[in-house]
Amino acid sequence: MKFFIDSANVDEIKQAVALGVCDGVTTNPTLLAKEKGSAPDIFKSICKIVDGPVNAETISLDTTGIIQEGRSLAAIHPNIVVKIPCTKEGLLAVKQLESQGIKTNVTLIFSPMQALLAAKAGATFVCPFVGRVDDAGQDGMELIEQILIIFENFGINSEVIVASILGVQHVLRSALIGAHIATIPYPVVEKLVRHPLTDAGVANFLKDWKKVKERS
Ligand code: E4P
Repeated sequence: MKFFIDSANVDEIKQAVALGVCDGVTTNPTLLAKEKGSAPDIFKSICKIVDGPVNAETISLDTTGIIQEGRSLAAIHPNIVVKIPCTKEGLLAVKQLESQGIKTNVTLIFSPMQALLAAKAGATFVCPFVGRVDDAGQDGMELIEQILIIFENFGINSEVIVASILGVQHVLRSALIGAHIATIPYPVVEKLVRHPLTDAGVANFLKDWKKVKERS
């Protein structure tokens, strides 16, 4: 499973790259709003440090606007993927952009049928939001399972990015069911690294090592 980092924060992304867990990045307007500087400058900085897809989201609501935005975002760097919300206008734009060789990611997906339609429009990636589905009282990971089955049934090549990840369990379950990509907030990456028994084990080894040193 590939790990994307769900962040527009260059320091977090640098740390994930150093750890070897940054195969790509997803941003969105909310993540960009937390940072300083213009969106294109942030995308340029991220593209300098990440060797993989960097998702930049459109905000236009009409197809023509989405296509125009998509073209200018794609012109920033060859690794930019144009992230487009799953609306009718968005899917029409996906078809056009993909036919022009611009990669797209259809985002804000909350049902298997939205994922199938996004794939049929030609999206390179589809982005279902598990955390928000859980928060609405349903099972977000069941949505991923259903999308993976449908894609497998028909040999669909669009990659599934598990998004809106809330914690370690979402990452674990994504890996177990064979999701292609999990886009993970950096604080969750840090949680993946740590285990209380590892910390206790290290503390214990240090204590015992002191005894060994004292003898020599
Ligand atoms: C996906 O690419 C989105 O940026 C993201 O995962 C949104 O998650 P949220 O529900 O935490 O805002």
